[in-house]
Amino acid sequence: MLKLIDVVSGYTDVNIIRGVSIEVAKKEIVTIIGPNGSGKSTLMKTIFGLVKLRSGQIMFDGLDISQLRTDKIVREGIGYVPQERNVFPSLTVLENLEMGAFTHMDGFKDGLEEFYSIFQDLKRKSKQKVGTMSGGEQKMIAIGRAMILMPSLLLLDEPSSGLSPKLRDMLFNKLVEINELGTALMIVEQNAKLALAVSHRGYVLELGKKRFAGEAKSLLVNEAVKKLYLGG
Ligand SMILES: Nc1ncnc2c1ncn2[C@@H]1O[C@H](COP(=O)(O)OP(=O)(O)O)[C@@H](O)[C@H]1O
Ligand SMILES: [Mg+2]
Repeated sequence: MLKLIDVVSGYTDVNIIRGVSIEVAKKEIVTIIGPNGSGKSTLMKTIFGLVKLRSGQIMFDGLDISQLRTDKIVREGIGYVPQERNVFPSLTVLENLEMGAFTHMDGFKDGLEEFYSIFQDLKRKSKQKVGTMSGGEQKMIAIGRAMILMPSLLLLDEPSSGLSPKLRDMLFNKLVEINELGTALMIVEQNAKLALAVSHRGYVLELGKKRFAGEAKSLLVNEAVKKLYLGG
C-alpha cells in the first residue's frame, strides 16, 4: 500500500533521511522506533508532503505521491496526527472533528460515526470545549480529526507522548480497534515495547537510516534491538 524507495529528505543542506526504504501493507500496523533525532518525525512529514523529497520515491496504492501536495495526499487516503498537540482548545469536540473534514464534508457523517463507535466517551462530551479536557482526551480528539475522513492509512507521530501509563494502554487499545476497522497504521513511538506489542512489523531508524526491520515479535526478542533500543 505505502512504499518508500530510497527516500532522501531534510531541511537544510544536510540530509536527515538518508536513503530509507520501508513498506506498510494494507491493514497492517507498522511501528518505527529509534533514538531521539534519528529522523522519525521527518520521515512522516516527508510522506505527508510537509518536508520535500530530495530523491527516491513514495508510492501509495500504486500512485506516485512523491511530489503531491498535502491536501492531495489527504484525498488519496492518508491521515496524519502530528507529535505536537493539535486541537483547537476554544472549540467543542464536535467542532474540532469538523475541522478535520472542512475540505470535504461529504464523508464527515460516516467518519464521525466510526470515530464515536470507538471513542464513545467523547460522543457524550461532543458539546464540551476541548480546552477543558484532559491531555489524553485531547490526544484522542487530535486522532479523531485525522480519522474523520476515513483514511486507509493513518500516520501517528508519538501518539502516547505525555500520557500516563494507564491512558497509554487505553490509547493503544483504541489504535488496535481503529486498525481492526480496516485502517493501516504507521506509528512512531518512544514507548517502543508497547508499540511493537500491538504491531505486525517494525523498523528501527538511526541517523536517518534503517538499522533493523522485521516482524514486531522478532524485534522484541532480538538481542541487539533489545539492548540498544528497548532498554535491555
Ligand atoms: N524544522 C527543522 N529544521 C531543521 N532541522 C530540523 C527540523 N526539524 C527537525 N530537524 C532536525 O532533524 C533531525 C531529526 O529530527 P526528527 O525527525 O524530529 O527526529 P525524531 O522524530 O526521530 O526525534 C534532528 O537533528 C533535528 O534537529
Ligand atoms: Mg519526533
